[in-house]
Amino acid sequence: MYGFDGKIVSGNKSVYFQADTLSSLIIASGNISHSTKGRPMKLLFYAAKIYDKKSFDPVLERFPEITIEYIDHELDPGTAMLADGYDAICAFVSADVGAETLEMLSKCGVKAVLMRCAGYNNVDVKKAKELGIVVKRVPAYSPESVAELAMTLAMAVNRRIYKAYNKVRENDYTLKGLRGVLLYGKTAGIVGTGKIGAAMCRICRGFGMNVIAYDVYENPSLKDFVEYVSLDELFARSDLISLHCPLMDNTYHMINIENIKKMKDGVILVNTSRGALVNTEELIEGIRLNKFLGVGLDVYEEETGNVYEDRSDEIMMHSVTSRLLSFPNVLITSHQGFYTVEALESIAETTLQNMMDAIAGTVTPNDVTE
Ligand code: NAI
Repeated sequence: MYGFDGKIVSGNKSVYFQADTLSSLIIASGNISHSTKGRPMKLLFYAAKIYDKKSFDPVLERFPEITIEYIDHELDPGTAMLADGYDAICAFVSADVGAETLEMLSKCGVKAVLMRCAGYNNVDVKKAKELGIVVKRVPAYSPESVAELAMTLAMAVNRRIYKAYNKVRENDYTLKGLRGVLLYGKTAGIVGTGKIGAAMCRICRGFGMNVIAYDVYENPSLKDFVEYVSLDELFARSDLISLHCPLMDNTYHMINIENIKKMKDGVILVNTSRGALVNTEELIEGIRLNKFLGVGLDVYEEETGNVYEDRSDEIMMHSVTSRLLSFPNVLITSHQGFYTVEALESIAETTLQNMMDAIAGTVTPNDVTE
């Protein structure tokens, strides 16, 4: 339990608490009595937030072989040395799991990198392989959570909910700037129809939209109501475009000015996948060309360094994100697609099972090998 005075009371768990804020918090959790009997598997949990501990600790009860230390430091080449003596580390989307970090983790004796997310574009998988470090991830955890946020963003920008909320709070009951469009009967273009994209297709169908999609592989579960088209045709026909493909060399900056010009005027663009799918400077150019009714982004190119941090007291020296936010038809959230009770529990369960499998040398579909 967390007290309000900045102290942490944590039952029989050992607690090390250095500061009056949680910024240098280190909490060891796990079955401590077990650790005295035999050597537990030690997991160092980087960039831990309160909600991580809240979702992992109850699940940890079912994994008595594992102990976790939560630290708030982000994983990068400078903090990798903190993993000395740990069997595995747990990292998230904003960590730097590049070659230099992995070299240090290897020197520290770390045998597994456990990504508590689906994406792993921040991991140098080849280097990990060379060093004999197993990389595992959580490929699926409530895809509907992300898809529901994608539709939330689409509707929020369409009906300008963020403006309406503030207007009514200010006793301004006028409708200026709030006009939206009907999605019913319009065309949704879904790029990437894996787990999340498929969930988004189903949501769009529920809205009474015609659903078209582009993917390098067709998803057979969608064949009854989704029409697969080329990417160019998707850009040309869609009233709502939602991105759900991974970030790879061939998807980097797929939303650029050339492709934006192929889109309908008044299109809604949503990105809940990875920031670098969109060339932000060129998106701004497109917004200035009045291409978009609305743009909803849960991920954006500058998010590293921002994600899950409170920077509200800082002066931004240069920020393309601030420029984006100056537009009335742009809504940005900070990588919260996964953030539901159900998804967090599923992430914790899979990550701890991944640790058991990694240490046992069991290869599973959750291994990242390329
Ligand atoms: P998935 O692996 O199930 O589906 C990805 C789909 O993209 C596959 O069908 C694949 O064939 C397709 N694809 C691959 N290359 C493509 C290309 N060049 N063009 C079009 N489609 C292509 O992945 P899932 O679970 O649906 O996740 C999608 C993305 O969502 C992840 O890559 C991740 O970046 C992001 N994500 C975001 C979260 C958030 O909190 N905002 C949370 C979880 C995932």
